[in-house]
Amino acid sequence: MTAGRPGSSRDRRYAVWISATAALFVAAAAVGFVWLPAVQAGRSAPDLWDAICSAIGLPARDVQAAAAVAGRPASDVAWTAATQQLLARGNAARGVTLAAASCSNCHGRTGVSDDAIFPNLAGQSAASIYKQLQDFRSGMRDPAVMGVYVASLTDDDMRDLAAHYASLPEAVARTTDALASADDPTRRLAEFGDPMRGIAACAACHGPLGFTTAAPSLQGQQRGYLEVQLQALASGRRHNDISAQMRSIARQLTPREIDSLAAYYAGVPPGGVASQTSAPGK
Ligand code: HEC
Ligand code: HEC
Repeated sequence: MTAGRPGSSRDRRYAVWISATAALFVAAAAVGFVWLPAVQAGRSAPDLWDAICSAIGLPARDVQAAAAVAGRPASDVAWTAATQQLLARGNAARGVTLAAASCSNCHGRTGVSDDAIFPNLAGQSAASIYKQLQDFRSGMRDPAVMGVYVASLTDDDMRDLAAHYASLPEAVARTTDALASADDPTRRLAEFGDPMRGIAACAACHGPLGFTTAAPSLQGQQRGYLEVQLQALASGRRHNDISAQMRSIARQLTPREIDSLAAYYAGVPPGGVASQTSAPGK
């Protein structure tokens, strides 16, 4: 093979190829570094390394960190027909005995706790309780407090405890709507979400508009508990929500919104003092 002589047709072809390649490179860089970052909403001013990652299609660092946590699945619980059938066989009467022995001290005899750090369980969805107990036992949810109480529970124990608490009357009547007017921004966030920021309506998964399997009921929950959980989901400290359904929403909320949503669901009127959910006896 001989190289093309200067001025030959072959030489001109090289020049065309090189210019075409250079033009393609410039166009790709413009799309990758300028256009894509500009249209990727919610990514605030990426540094050069993030820009390079995103331009060549690698996940950015925050996504990588989430994926590292998600090296394991978020939860061992899957909503298969077998799980649903297991829950359907829940024995609430047996659950009463188990609860009295090891749960009532913190969660209250009636499933309504008298301390904002202990969640109310009365009237909670059985699927949610069952899943959380499983996640505490597997360590998918931080077992620091709950770990010792679930370690010796069998699947059937968890099922029966869930059936028991689900059967108890909820802590607080569903009064939130009466407390907040229809144009209250927190109520609007709960009922309609914020599509511009990719926040789906809380009510679409947590009720009353719709129910996602094992999305816990929020109405009448302890304000302090709701706030701590939203913060933990936003930071990724809690990461047992399947497909990051809840983390992706919590991350979008401002600290102020977290505070006001917690108050809204706890039934505290807008601007109301940090009162706790009433605890009708322990
Ligand atoms: C020493 C106090 C204590 C005892 C006893 C206890 N819990 Fe808990 N429980 C907590 C705390 C605190 C949390 C909040 C999560 C956390 O901080 O770990 C929690 C969370 C939960 C949750 C998650 C609720 C939600 O909405 O996600 C469930 C379900 C639960 N406990 C059930 C039980 C059951 C059933 C028992 C008895 C077998 C029990 N707990 C015993 C303190 C306790
Ligand atoms: C796409 C459905 C979906 C939407 C929309 C949603 N959530 Fe959730 N949320 C879930 C699921 C599912 C869980 C349970 C995660 C798990 O399995 O641990 C959850 C858990 C929570 C928890 C933890 C409660 C507990 O008892 O531990 C809080 C608090 C919460 N969501 C608040 C909200 C708020 C406030 C909004 C609206 C801004 C919202 N969620 C919107 C699905 C949703």
